[in-house]
Amino acid sequence: MKKTTLALLASVATLTLAPAANAAEEPAKVKTCVGCHGQGGHSVVPNFPVLAGQHAAYLEKALKDFRDGFRHNATMQMFAKGLTDDEIKALAAYYSSQK
Ligand code: HEC
Repeated sequence: MKKTTLALLASVATLTLAPAANAAEEPAKVKTCVGCHGQGGHSVVPNFPVLAGQHAAYLEKALKDFRDGFRHNATMQMFAKGLTDDEIKALAAYYSSQK
């Protein structure tokens, strides 16, 4: 009984501490993108595409294509290489939610 209560409390604590799955929330990996794609994906440099407001499905596909070698760009392949599917989903949701 005591064990069950503790386990329950632990899972409630985990749920409370877990970041909300909010599209506007900034994923940690965004820090590595800002230098080129700008704050919130509002790039001011023509060489670096604007990501803000782009469709999430498009961003997700682009990142997976870079990561998996279907789209070739040395710079982006380097940055997409280490991303998991979940990180890509979060980045795509974040950038598409930026106005
Ligand atoms: C050193 C600069 C640099 C960094 C850092 C960088 N990018 Fe890029 N990104 C580029 C360039 C350059 C392109 C254009 C590539 C091409 O022409 O195919 C690009 C393209 C993209 C595209 C495709 C956009 C489109 O409209 O086709 C996405 C999505 C993207 N980057 C996401 C990211 C994310 C997410 C991060 C951080 C994890 C990131 N980038 C970090 C330079 C960078």
